Amino acid sequence: MGKDVIIACDFPNKEEVLSFLDKFVDKKPFVKIGMELFYGAGPEIVREIKSRGHKIFLDLKLHDIPNTVKKAMSVLSGLDVDLCNLHASGTVRMMEAALEGLTRPDGTRPLLIAVTQLTSTDQESMENDLLIHEPIDKVVMHYASNAKKAGLDGVVCSPLEAGKVHEVCGADFLTVTPGVRFADGDVGDQKHVMTPAEAKRIGSDYIVVGRPITAAEDPVAAYERCVAEFVD
Ligand code: C5P
Repeated sequence: MGKDVIIACDFPNKEEVLSFLDKFVDKKPFVKIGMELFYGAGPEIVREIKSRGHKIFLDLKLHDIPNTVKKAMSVLSGLDVDLCNLHASGTVRMMEAALEGLTRPDGTRPLLIAVTQLTSTDQESMENDLLIHEPIDKVVMHYASNAKKAGLDGVVCSPLEAGKVHEVCGADFLTVTPGVRFADGDVGDQKHVMTPAEAKRIGSDYIVVGRPITAAEDPVAAYERCVAEFVD
């Protein structure tokens, strides 16, 4: 898999996401569908976007007992998504079960990546709420190693962590990184941001970009700028 830009389609309903995607006539971008759109519009939205020629990262972050995750993953695999994810904190056994569920009878499957610690979790909340007392960077790398051990393809991580994840888990282990902003753009609510060019330099495999593209005056031009900085 080569490097690519994934557009986070954080829209509340089918009409808005489809009218956004209608702007892309020549190249069909890789898109991320999250919980809001999936729960609101249902699996049909995945089929519709897929049939328009887009690759899909279905960002549902599964976390449950291994058997339940296995069965849910088998449903997602049938939707023909290209990339999906789960929480590494669900344990290695849960991740292995997820891979089993995802694998189709012909041996093919979507890529599967893990969320390590959410960026909304900091050292303090990890210690106080989760009773995890190790340094957060160590926890993130440990969860990434667990994902690798379970046979997953990579992790979602901040662009700042991508280099270290590759050091620990190997160059082929995918790093999918949100928190990307243009040098002259709004940071918004993201705390740690990098430009597409910096994310490329640091070795991110995929960048997930939402508002810098979806809220741009010319989303197609903003997407093409991202691709030019990150991929070309
Ligand atoms: O609009 P923006 O570029 O900030 O969108 C980033 C996307 O990546 C959103 O869909 C957000 O939920 C997701 N994400 C993130 N930070 C994480 C994990 C996911 O921003 N740690």
